[in-house]
Amino acid sequence: MAGAASSSEKPHIPVLLRPLLAAVAPVTGIWLDGTFGAGGYTRGLLEAGADKVIGVDRDPLAFEMAADWAQDYGDRLVMQPGVFSRMDEYAQDLDGVVLDLGVSSMQLDQAERGFSFMKDGPLDMRMSQQGESAADLVNTATEAQLADILFHYGEERASRRIAKAIVRARTEAPITTTLRLAEIVESCLPRPKPGQSHPATRSFQGLRIAVNAEYEELFQGLMAAERALKPGGQLAVVTFHSIEDRMVKRFFQSRAGKTGRANRYAPEMEQDQPQFTLKTRKAVGPDEQELQENPRARSAKLRVAIRTDAPAGEIEARAIGMPQLGGRAR
Ligand SMILES: C[S@@+](CC[C@H](N)C(=O)[O-])C[C@H]1O[C@@H](n2cnc3c(N)ncnc32)[C@H](O)[C@@H]1O
Repeated sequence: MAGAASSSEKPHIPVLLRPLLAAVAPVTGIWLDGTFGAGGYTRGLLEAGADKVIGVDRDPLAFEMAADWAQDYGDRLVMQPGVFSRMDEYAQDLDGVVLDLGVSSMQLDQAERGFSFMKDGPLDMRMSQQGESAADLVNTATEAQLADILFHYGEERASRRIAKAIVRARTEAPITTTLRLAEIVESCLPRPKPGQSHPATRSFQGLRIAVNAEYEELFQGLMAAERALKPGGQLAVVTFHSIEDRMVKRFFQSRAGKTGRANRYAPEMEQDQPQFTLKTRKAVGPDEQELQENPRARSAKLRVAIRTDAPAGEIEARAIGMPQLGGRAR
């Protein structure tokens, strides 16, 4: 397990919290925060008037870190270890669900968690601290599997070149640290121009998503929220990159009965009995003030929808644009 960091280390700044609270106001009743993290959203919801918040996180460290403030809220705060794809097993008839996807800055900043290509640490990346690590994946997957992960999950165009270099490097010695992997990736890509992101950003993103099954979790989590919310309950999701945002957008559109248009001039088709109505027509991003205070918020997007009283149902992963591994033409 990762060593406990003190909460006085770099404070976690919740992303898009102000717009989220404004979008779902007035906050009442029982909410579930599926990505508790440093508890920023949970506290925001409790302060804004939620009677109770059930905080869910797959990382046991998240709850350890909350120990010094959680008791301030007594039984208004319930801490529930687990994954948000199972939220409907933890609670029902919810007034609201919030999801703030990705890793927390707490996880990213701790070298021993192995999420960061800027700090040397074991190549781990497991949010839950259980199961297969990034090192296991990198040292055992086939070259084709690695290329697929980097391409589909990391949106890395040089995926094949990097996968080949990984497989070559691991025959010399297993790849066990973040910096060794970052060096291998860097050796395959041109030096970044000023203002461009670190060359290993996309590869690390792809591996992290694979290790934590993040897209499957999101897909299942959206359907679990549909089952757990009561009519009128709100679902607010904050995403950090385009694939996640596309999945949330398509899920909302499809569940709100908007099947799209044949062309841009054709009317939108409405379906009977939609499970949600859209509260935000367009994704909400950070305002100038937030960008100044927290540049990490740059790519964050918020979408909110309201549950109707139509029965919950199922949707196919493909219908919301979830990337499928193994689907690339060779
Ligand atoms: C971006 S942080 C959330 C930060 C939080 N909103 C705050 O203000 O402190 C994401 C958190 O969600 C957790 N997480 C990610 N995917 C999860 C899942 N499928 N189920 C449960 N927790 C998850 C991570 O472990 C991490 O602690």
